[in-house]
Amino acid sequence: MSSRIVVTRTIPEPALDLLREAGDLWLNPEDRALTRDELFEAIAGADAVVTLLHDRVDGAFLDAAGPALQVVANVAVGFDNVDVEAVRSRGVRFTNTPGVLTDATADIAFALILMATRRLSEGERLIRSQAPWNWNMAFMLGTGLQGKTLGIVGLGQIGIATARRARAFGMQIAYTGRRRASPELESELEARFQPLDELLATADVVSLHCPLSDETRHLVTAERLAAMKPTAFLVNTTRGPVIDEAALAEALREGVIAGAGLDVFEREPEVHPALIELDNVVLIPHLGSATVETRTAMAVLAAENAIAVLEGREPPTPFV
Ligand code: DGY
Repeated sequence: MSSRIVVTRTIPEPALDLLREAGDLWLNPEDRALTRDELFEAIAGADAVVTLLHDRVDGAFLDAAGPALQVVANVAVGFDNVDVEAVRSRGVRFTNTPGVLTDATADIAFALILMATRRLSEGERLIRSQAPWNWNMAFMLGTGLQGKTLGIVGLGQIGIATARRARAFGMQIAYTGRRRASPELESELEARFQPLDELLATADVVSLHCPLSDETRHLVTAERLAAMKPTAFLVNTTRGPVIDEAALAEALREGVIAGAGLDVFEREPEVHPALIELDNVVLIPHLGSATVETRTAMAVLAAENAIAVLEGREPPTPFV
């Protein structure tokens, strides 16, 4: 009997083609997140579900899917939408999409660093407002990166790729995380390990790359922002709740830090209204992996993961 495969929201066609060949595909006919009830109805009796980052995968999801479920393939490297223990305890496989979005996300992290330090959004807003402006020696001065320190929180694949970009811009690298990097990587990046609080107190730009977990939720608090240099910038391309957004807005308003660049938000798609008012924060709508090539690669990898499990093979990028 052919496998029932559910895709909760449309994904690039090459991935859908693979899934159509592998089984009986149900695809959400509308390009929007399904409500919880719609989701539960759609996944009932599924052998495989391909999920997106807005689908909560927990005990109720697994109950709704039922005993046929073999695999949940998330089209994201992030897994904060998934109760990994619930999935593991039911003997269901869970896969994510590491690797294929590393460069795209590191590009966006570095774009945010440049946009925030060189005031690019602010400059563009000025031109579009058609307000008069004149070049002069002190006009819209930003902060140079050469010789400054980039503090990476979470030196995983995306953190490493961001650090490599920073090296090309003449920056020094400091990092923190649960584990020390290999001596080879430390020497390639000339990176020094620091405890989080020391890194925050000394870095000129802090870029967040740790996954969202109970441990990292609100890692960046008002106290930690206060410990940063008043000239420092904070960039977030991981998940919004790693930062206490209200505290960040207050810190930016009060000049506790110089600026920030955010691709992700605490209550996406909502953005804290205080941030919208501020000129010293760059705000972009979760674009980290948003290239045609990357989104296609993510979807194809998720499809390959799902199909491998259905065919009794080890998936290319297993998580559980
Ligand atoms: C991910 O894969 O977790 C990204 O946030 C999607 O852009």
